[in-house]
Amino acid sequence: MSDDLFRGRWVLITGASSGFGEDFARQLAARGAHLILSARSEAKLRALGEELSSKHRVEHRVVTKDLAVAGGADSLADDVLALGVEVDHVINNAGFGIGGPFSELGAKRAAEMLRLNCEALTVLTAKLLPPMVARGRGGFLQVASVAGFQPTPYMSVYGASKAYVVNFTVGLAEELRGTGVRMSALCPGPVATGFQAAAGIEIAPQQRASVLSSEETVRRGIEAYVANNTVFVPGAVNKLGGIAAKFLPRALVARAAGQMMKNRGRA
Ligand SMILES: NC(=O)c1ccc[n+]([C@@H]2O[C@H](COP(=O)([O-])OP(=O)(O)OC[C@H]3O[C@@H](n4cnc5c(N)ncnc54)[C@H](OP(=O)(O)O)[C@@H]3O)[C@@H](O)[C@H]2O)c1
Repeated sequence: MSDDLFRGRWVLITGASSGFGEDFARQLAARGAHLILSARSEAKLRALGEELSSKHRVEHRVVTKDLAVAGGADSLADDVLALGVEVDHVINNAGFGIGGPFSELGAKRAAEMLRLNCEALTVLTAKLLPPMVARGRGGFLQVASVAGFQPTPYMSVYGASKAYVVNFTVGLAEELRGTGVRMSALCPGPVATGFQAAAGIEIAPQQRASVLSSEETVRRGIEAYVANNTVFVPGAVNKLGGIAAKFLPRALVARAAGQMMKNRGRA
């Protein structure tokens, strides 16, 4: 049943060269989807595309792009539209965070993070959504984070960028009601991927027992997308964290989150 959503359909995956993006490519190819793989690491994308095409008899295209530079997402959307295929699903997954005091982050990195995590995702949605609405099918799986539910001291830009993704997605899901186009935010907790090295953080020891694998996170994320869940948090501990962030005073949540980052040596 769920394979009907993907079999023979084209899916654009950003950040497909590692972590969740690579797992999305592997799992969606296994469900019969044709892949448009994007990231900056061309060799990795080509190797992955060739492996999955020959294993699952699906087609693939590679569009290498830096989405943290001005105009990057516009250019990716134009290149994708020029491929001449109907893109039915977009996994807006590329993103990064950086741990440490905001006063040491620097304006350039902050702007790049917002451009990738928020602007690129928005531009791709703006350019690739209208044909889906016209066809009355398709959708976007926007990769947010549990960090989007709360203030995240010492990763404040990252958490705020993911709060944008959550609210943008929920707003659009309401606008799209009845159109046949779905809009889902996947909000994982910490998962071991390339994210930690890029962010300069490690998964806290007290979090390790509840950490899901990237493969499992993506598997559950795809099922939630198929079920048309607007916001999905994989894992019971992560779900509880999201609920606590909703009901506890914001300042208290910020204090606890800041303390955790201090304990991890990132403050
Ligand atoms: N892992 C976690 O704990 C966790 C938890 C919650 C949410 N997330 C979110 O999950 C998403 C995927 O992250 P991940 O955990 O899979 O990390 P990852 O392994 O570091 O993957 C990040 C992907 O984004 C791409 N990327 C980074 N900078 C880019 C740029 N400037 N332009 C285009 N592509 C770029 C990378 O490819 P190239 O380097 O080849 O460009 C890579 O494919 C992110 O949005 C992240 O915020 C992660």
